[in-house]
Amino acid sequence: MTDPTDRYERSTPQSRELFEEARDYLPGGDTREVTFHAPYPTFVEEASGTTLTTADGEELLDFLNNYTAAVLGHAPEAVVEAVTERFARGSGFAAPTREATELARRIVERTPSIDHVRFANSGTEATMNAIRAAMVHTGNDDVLKVHGGYHGTHDTVMVGVDGDGPEAGVPREVGERVHTTPFNDPDALAAAFERHPDLACFVVEPVMGHAGMVPATTEYLEAARDLTEDTDTLLVFDEVMTYRLGVGGAQERYGVTPDLTALGKFIGGGLPAGAFGGRADVMSVFDPSAEDGAIHSGTFNGNPATMAGGAATLDALDADAIARLNDLGAVARERLADAAESVGVPVQVTGDGSFFNVHLTDSPVTDHASSAAGDPATERLFLEMRNRGVFLAPRGMGNVTTPMGEAELDRLVGTFEEALGDLSPEIAAD
Ligand SMILES: Cc1ncc(COP(=O)(O)O)c(C=O)c1O
Repeated sequence: MTDPTDRYERSTPQSRELFEEARDYLPGGDTREVTFHAPYPTFVEEASGTTLTTADGEELLDFLNNYTAAVLGHAPEAVVEAVTERFARGSGFAAPTREATELARRIVERTPSIDHVRFANSGTEATMNAIRAAMVHTGNDDVLKVHGGYHGTHDTVMVGVDGDGPEAGVPREVGERVHTTPFNDPDALAAAFERHPDLACFVVEPVMGHAGMVPATTEYLEAARDLTEDTDTLLVFDEVMTYRLGVGGAQERYGVTPDLTALGKFIGGGLPAGAFGGRADVMSVFDPSAEDGAIHSGTFNGNPATMAGGAATLDALDADAIARLNDLGAVARERLADAAESVGVPVQVTGDGSFFNVHLTDSPVTDHASSAAGDPATERLFLEMRNRGVFLAPRGMGNVTTPMGEAELDRLVGTFEEALGDLSPEIAAD
């Protein structure tokens, strides 16, 4: 059997060349940690619908979709039109525009927990400002987050992501006020609330991305709701990825209502965007006329082209589209699990709605510690699938988009079965 890395290198000489050139200017040859995989990442020239075209002219069926941001697939016509039309009339002004109100209205109408919303330029800024709102509202500095949870790269959430304390470059003091608790463990959560009586908020994702798309149990989210209410602490849902799971996000799907919600990924129609919103009394800390309020500013906040792209995306992502995506995701998870069983490799397929994640393990995956995301066998599987023209995250994560249907699932599952079959002797030997 050929080494998948050899095959990858043979079919991607242009990517290698571009990577070598990039390394002269960009540390590690790129500007985003998560896109790297050994021996070097694929350079993409363009994308349309379900397909990426690489620098080597290969066509890849994209099940990664910019880590869930491209929910309508790539370059959807209505969004491209809305963005280009708006951009051509001026790309940003130091003044409010009707487009921001239009996107805000859509988010508020769709999401019962969001009375008021503000826009930023990334999910990182969204969680940062949601947490800041909770701090100003409660007067507390301490934050509780899930161990292994990823919420972007600002200091407060960069604690207990890959390791146990503050990640590299995060001041030690931050680790003293940010505490972590295991995912999906209501007893540990209750104990954490007892240990830390002065919390501003508990931040949690309804489906934990960094664990490999592991859904929270309803019991866990309900415990989080009760504990935050009992202690006058705010519940912050990071729905940067999960907002696509229901018209009103995962909070609607799971029936648990947070005080504040962070959004990102597709919320700007593919342009850089984040949003955070929630109860009017909490969000009022950002009203410039409020005394002792919080400062929230940003040159590109509410950029009209981004807002127009976001509105066009939400218009396309209606209840029917979401139901169809969630059904397709359920079929993908079931068929991937069946395929693994037929090959005889122990696999857990996690996810919910339009998300799936393949874990090469026979033990149930319930949190970051039990996740097999990021292990070397999963990366080899990713490369085997990539060599056969199907693109997933190296950690085994994927998601379906609106232009996809049965044909794309057939290709996904067929390729997975073949790749897993090729790898199974190696996996058995690990
Ligand atoms: C759950 C979650 N929160 C926050 C973020 C940060 O978003 P951004 O990369 O736009 O800063 C991400 C990014 O992947 C995410 O998955």
